Amino acid sequence: MTTPRLFVLEDLFKFNNIVMDPLVEVYSQPFLLPKILEHPELVLTADAPDNSLMGFILGTRVEDASESFGHGKSMSWNHGHISAVAVAHDYRKLGLGTRLLTTVRDILDRQNDFYVDLFVREKNTNAIGLYESLGYVKYRWMPKFYADDHGYEMRLPLSRDVDRKSLEGIMIKKIYSFGNKLYYLLMFYIFGIIAIIIGGKLVE
Ligand SMILES: CC(C)(COP(=O)(O)OP(=O)(O)OC[C@H]1O[C@@H](n2cnc3c(N)ncnc32)[C@H](O)[C@@H]1OP(=O)(O)O)[C@@H](O)C(=O)NCCC(=O)NCCS
Repeated sequence: MTTPRLFVLEDLFKFNNIVMDPLVEVYSQPFLLPKILEHPELVLTADAPDNSLMGFILGTRVEDASESFGHGKSMSWNHGHISAVAVAHDYRKLGLGTRLLTTVRDILDRQNDFYVDLFVREKNTNAIGLYESLGYVKYRWMPKFYADDHGYEMRLPLSRDVDRKSLEGIMIKKIYSFGNKLYYLLMFYIFGIIAIIIGGKLVE
């Protein structure tokens, strides 16, 4: 198995084959560059034998973020965030995604962070399967988080979070079914009104 290495700025010229995927959010240079420069140890790639890139992960850290959880308790903590992870088509299902995610997780763990989180499209069941296999938990359902899809925030508590406090405010169970029903009820209502209007016009 290949060993991930630090992503360097020249790699920006070689990584389109990986990030130009409908499931990867394509970030602009002004978004990418500060993140790469701020936490270079969390931005990794892996080289293929032909010198192309096989995969890429963009990890970041959020420091002293104040957050309410559980029953209105508030806490300030450092946590990691995975902004993007992608593997080139030819190298998928070989364990590289797992390797990139576990390498970043281990670095954040050593930096004493509480948890790692990420956002994923609801329809991206392959990625959700991968995250769940690594211990990530669906924390929050985010309706219309993406222009064309709902999303989830998923979280992985790290060793410092012995009591799994980062999952305490877990909202997915409470809100998911309610939010889901409300959304479809609203759609049903809107389409019903449209159908009545169109029907009325046809009768005229
Ligand atoms: C998601 C992605 C990064 C996975 O990378 P990968 O190197 O193929 O992942 P791994 O080989 O480490 O897979 C580990 C586990 O993830 C799950 N998984 C990954 N790809 C899967 C697929 N196509 N179908 C079903 N399960 C899948 C499986 O549980 C797999 O374990 P297994 O091989 O023992 O069955 C890759 O498919 C990708 O780049 N997809 C497009 C971009 C994307 O969706 N990024 C995530 C955005 S949030």
